[in-house]
Amino acid sequence: MTPQDMTGQQVMVTLGPTREQWDGVRFWSNPSSGVMGACFAVAAWLRGAQVHAVCGPATPWLPADITRHDVTGAAQMYQAAADLWPRMDTGIFTAAVADFSPEPFGAEKFKKSGTETLSIRFTPNTDILKTLGTAKRENQRIVGFAAETGNLHENAVGKLRRKNADMIVGNIVGTPESGFQSATNKVFVADKTGRTEEWPVQPKTEVAWRILDWLLQM
Ligand code: PMT
Repeated sequence: MTPQDMTGQQVMVTLGPTREQWDGVRFWSNPSSGVMGACFAVAAWLRGAQVHAVCGPATPWLPADITRHDVTGAAQMYQAAADLWPRMDTGIFTAAVADFSPEPFGAEKFKKSGTETLSIRFTPNTDILKTLGTAKRENQRIVGFAAETGNLHENAVGKLRRKNADMIVGNIVGTPESGFQSATNKVFVADKTGRTEEWPVQPKTEVAWRILDWLLQM
């Protein structure tokens, strides 16, 4: 029997990549599949929460009881999350949001001449987690993620503090068993009380379930 220990809670999950359009046919993005976030959305829903999923492009199917907000770019994801946030009890930020967007070339396809090099200027996007974390009420809780290629512990704990999260889930990206596009993840977890744990490789479904257990005990 699934515990209904999140009944009455409003939970927002951000998931998947964002796509920052450059010209009529090209965009800047990353390989996030949205699976990690979908595991959280389904786990919270199974435990009785009302779940809002703010989904980047090409993210997985979710049960109809989960309210889905489909977005494309980082600015749209920020707007959707910021609109929902005041009504939420918990925010889980698994999305791989582009930190920068290319200054748009326009709606036309850029035509190459064959000899030129191409320089594109990028401008920063709003950090959704940091903005909403800074504005969070005493009774709202936040789980952030940290996608790293090295210095996992140090970088994850830095993000926990800078973004005012209650928990941070650090994962190494670029390996087959963890991070982007895998069914499993290997995570380092830290919370704001100073508790830390390193977990072995396990299914993303299990990671999501155990993080919710931890959050509910805090
Ligand atoms: O989707 P999958 O294929 O299952 O892969 C899962 C995952 C690797 C995407 C996931 O486990 C993960 O690590 N998600 C965070 C990806 C990321 O962008 O990490 P970051 O270290 O760059 O960002 C730190 C935190 O700030 C994250 O919670 C991120 O959602 C948030 N952020 C970052 C930038 C930004 N502009 N707004 C944000 O909210």
